[in-house]
Amino acid sequence: MYEPARLCFILDNFDVLEKWKGMIDCMEPWMGRTAAVVDLGMLKNNLAEIRKKLKPGVELMAVLKGDGYRHGAEGLYPTLKACGVTNYAVALWSEGVALREHGATEPILVLGDTRDYDLDEAVRYNLDFPVFSVEYAKTVAEAAKRQGRKQNIQIKLDTGMSRIGFPDNDETLEAIKEISQMESLNMTGIFTHFARADEYDHKSAGKQLDRFLRMTEKLKEMGITFPKYHVANSPAILLMPDSQLDMVRAGDILYGLNPIDEEGFKKENFKEILSWYTYVVMVKEVPTGTEVGYGGTFVTKRPTKIATTARMLLHKLSLNLQRILFRDKHDHIFPLILHCPTYNVLVNIF
Ligand SMILES: Cc1ncc(COP(=O)(O)O)c(C=O)c1O
Repeated sequence: MYEPARLCFILDNFDVLEKWKGMIDCMEPWMGRTAAVVDLGMLKNNLAEIRKKLKPGVELMAVLKGDGYRHGAEGLYPTLKACGVTNYAVALWSEGVALREHGATEPILVLGDTRDYDLDEAVRYNLDFPVFSVEYAKTVAEAAKRQGRKQNIQIKLDTGMSRIGFPDNDETLEAIKEISQMESLNMTGIFTHFARADEYDHKSAGKQLDRFLRMTEKLKEMGITFPKYHVANSPAILLMPDSQLDMVRAGDILYGLNPIDEEGFKKENFKEILSWYTYVVMVKEVPTGTEVGYGGTFVTKRPTKIATTARMLLHKLSLNLQRILFRDKHDHIFPLILHCPTYNVLVNIF
């Protein structure tokens, strides 16, 4: 599903593009001569591509959970702000605080729960919390009251993902009514999340959307409305224009990661914003049956040429390395053999 993260490496130290040579030079010595580079120009490109897909008036929420999908949320924020992004989402309240401390004044929706022992502190940062049960709403409301504040919340409906969220039934309608009357809470939105929006037939996601719309319609009949209704994630932005509602929540496509099938995504103009740069330390040819790396876990099935690259930037390396392919400067792609933690990466070159 996902495109492999791009990792550019220099096959031949004596034959490098000037740009890459500059990159390697400026990395020495503390970075171990490898670097993860986020291209903010590509981020702007992706924002523009997303906006081309949006109907007039639909707002964009940038999903920066997991430190901006490990691209570094604080580094991305100034560009997102400069490009007019007015809503943000994070996974943890502490991520929201980090953005606030970097000057973010826009609405920030925390997608995960905040534990009761953190709430007295967390309610001070003007974040939006998701609410998915009456008990949790009460806990948040009490913390807000203790701090003399009104806390923004957004109702999370579970319409088919089976993660956190209220089920779509009549008890939920009553529960939301009860929450709407809690004085220290301010309802700023209602949302749900698709489990299978990447499927072209929309059968599953369509059902989720219908459940969401049915619930919000019933709430309207009860006189309960919200400033924002939102459901669409990256695949839905690409494939389900009807799901845009008031706002869309873009994660993958913001970073240029592929949320749909390869063929479909090739037709789009999104660009990966992350490149990793490193270089090859040594190339060797080994015969069939050679054990490679610690524990001899990889055994060559044919005569094989192996490149050992320099050390990786491990703190940025949250992606599953098995998904990563290596690209040389001519755009040839080579598979990863294995990654020895904290040391080198071995790549099968042909
Ligand atoms: C609730 C919610 N909305 C939106 C997103 C963004 O999804 P995507 O990366 O497909 O755009 C996520 C990401 O996991 C999410 O949990």
